[in-house]
Amino acid sequence: MRWFESGIGYQIYPQSFLDTNGDGIGDMRGIIQKLDYFCELGVTFLWIGPIYQSPQDDGGYDISDFYHVDPRYGSDQDLKELLAKAHQKGLRILLDLVMNHSSDQHPWFLESRESVDNPKRDYYIWRKGKNGGPPNNWESFFSESAWQYDKLTDMYYMKIFSAHMPDLNWANPEVRQEMFALAKYWLDLGVDGFRLDAISHLSRDESFRDSRKRADATGFVPDWSKFSNRPKVFEYLKDFRHQVLDNRDVLAVGEVGGGASVGLARKFSDPLDGGFDLVFTFDHCWQNDSFGNDTKEDQKFEVQVDKLKAVFDRWYRGMHQDRMLVVYWLNHDHPRVLSQYGDTGVYRKESAKMLANTLYFLYGTPFIYQGEEIGMSNVTYQKISDFRDVSAQNYYKSAKDRLSKAQILKFLQRTSRINARTPMQWDDGEHAGFTTGSPWVKVNDNYLKVNVKDQMADPDSIWHHYQKVLTLRKEPKIRKAIIHGKLKWLHLRHPDIFAYSKITDELTLTVISNFRNREIEFPLGEYREIHCHNYPDLLIRNHKIVLRPYESVVVFA
Ligand code: NOJ
Repeated sequence: MRWFESGIGYQIYPQSFLDTNGDGIGDMRGIIQKLDYFCELGVTFLWIGPIYQSPQDDGGYDISDFYHVDPRYGSDQDLKELLAKAHQKGLRILLDLVMNHSSDQHPWFLESRESVDNPKRDYYIWRKGKNGGPPNNWESFFSESAWQYDKLTDMYYMKIFSAHMPDLNWANPEVRQEMFALAKYWLDLGVDGFRLDAISHLSRDESFRDSRKRADATGFVPDWSKFSNRPKVFEYLKDFRHQVLDNRDVLAVGEVGGGASVGLARKFSDPLDGGFDLVFTFDHCWQNDSFGNDTKEDQKFEVQVDKLKAVFDRWYRGMHQDRMLVVYWLNHDHPRVLSQYGDTGVYRKESAKMLANTLYFLYGTPFIYQGEEIGMSNVTYQKISDFRDVSAQNYYKSAKDRLSKAQILKFLQRTSRINARTPMQWDDGEHAGFTTGSPWVKVNDNYLKVNVKDQMADPDSIWHHYQKVLTLRKEPKIRKAIIHGKLKWLHLRHPDIFAYSKITDELTLTVISNFRNREIEFPLGEYREIHCHNYPDLLIRNHKIVLRPYESVVVFA
């Protein structure tokens, strides 16, 4: 078994993790300070979001120097120290590798835009406009055209994310070599692998013809097939594996994301194809239908438990025989899972524990997102300008003529990725102990009652529950059940209860979770031991277990 198959990952969003120099931005020394924290929680490796030099148009995913740490996060030396100290403690480190695009302030781009015959011109994708507009009707992921006009040469460059993030031209072999050299540089420095950003988009439909699909409210067409999962991506990635990853004991996790079927994910993680060790997919993330529904402000966005289970079932069936899965509830691009699938009111604690039980005994390598372990939840910012994120601001621009401000606010409060990006709530001091300065983005008001310090002092807290779950996962017979056990769903189609067993010849581990805030009866079979229960006792009536609001229990038989 490779190290990450039995490992436990934790994602750090560096600018919001811990600030040690009072500039309001989390930094590398903050991560170094907390290395023991991860060990105590039970984490074995970290994925750290991009820390490279960047004008920060898109949270550091817009990179102007791929080889150096941005001074806001510290120095190159700090990163080396972080690697050394983490390794001493047995923690491995993944960096975010962004190869699809650069910042428009990257020297390559500054040269590329100079003239049509500049040697770096072909590092990016330039096309002439059409009928006074962009070269085609493709939409970017951030609610506008996928092209940006540049008057210097009177042409457009392609950018599937923000206007300040021109797409690199992977069809150019020089670009590929640059990127392979970059990845080798970081691996040679001692990083243990990468999360590969936006990796399914490296190739485009090179005819660049208009999409025939319908435009949305932006006037452009959200036809991701024009630049996602295209055949050439697999060729590029095969070379990447051979030239960069082969013969190194490192982890490559590809963000293959939306629209990737099980079949495609298998291709991305086929040693002879995409070659990733693990892939992130998004199917389980929006099972409350809140994504895209910006006009349905009064609808109750209740998680559809049967659909959620069907997603996990599909991925398990398609992958478990020869691929490892990732299990995660959220990352920095999502709202908080407690707000989506749990309860942020009276059952905050119960529902956060329930979500941990439900996910982390399933087949897969966990990635916990910072703050999840204390039940952090969505923010209730009242001003659009508080949503300091390019995708939120672009969405606002594209929606403001058709929706009221109140509607837009509600939608952002529910779906915006800033929800996951607010500062980590360390204690009940000013700015939640995140910074002594003024935080780059507002702290969630609930830090007085939701913070690490209080929860570490309270054995019944969400934090301690996470610690229990992770400790349990590491016990050999339980690890065996999670990784090699057969998955058996209990009432797969039940609309409210998420229940399954993982079965080996030594153990039947069963998880039963109530996703609702009301009592529900459920059959309970034989059991010998009870673990990770979020209520003090089991309530049995007529040979059935009566699950109270958000009750969840792990039993062994
Ligand atoms: C995916 C990242 O997770 C997201 O935060 C970013 O905006 C895009 N890729 C572009 O890099």
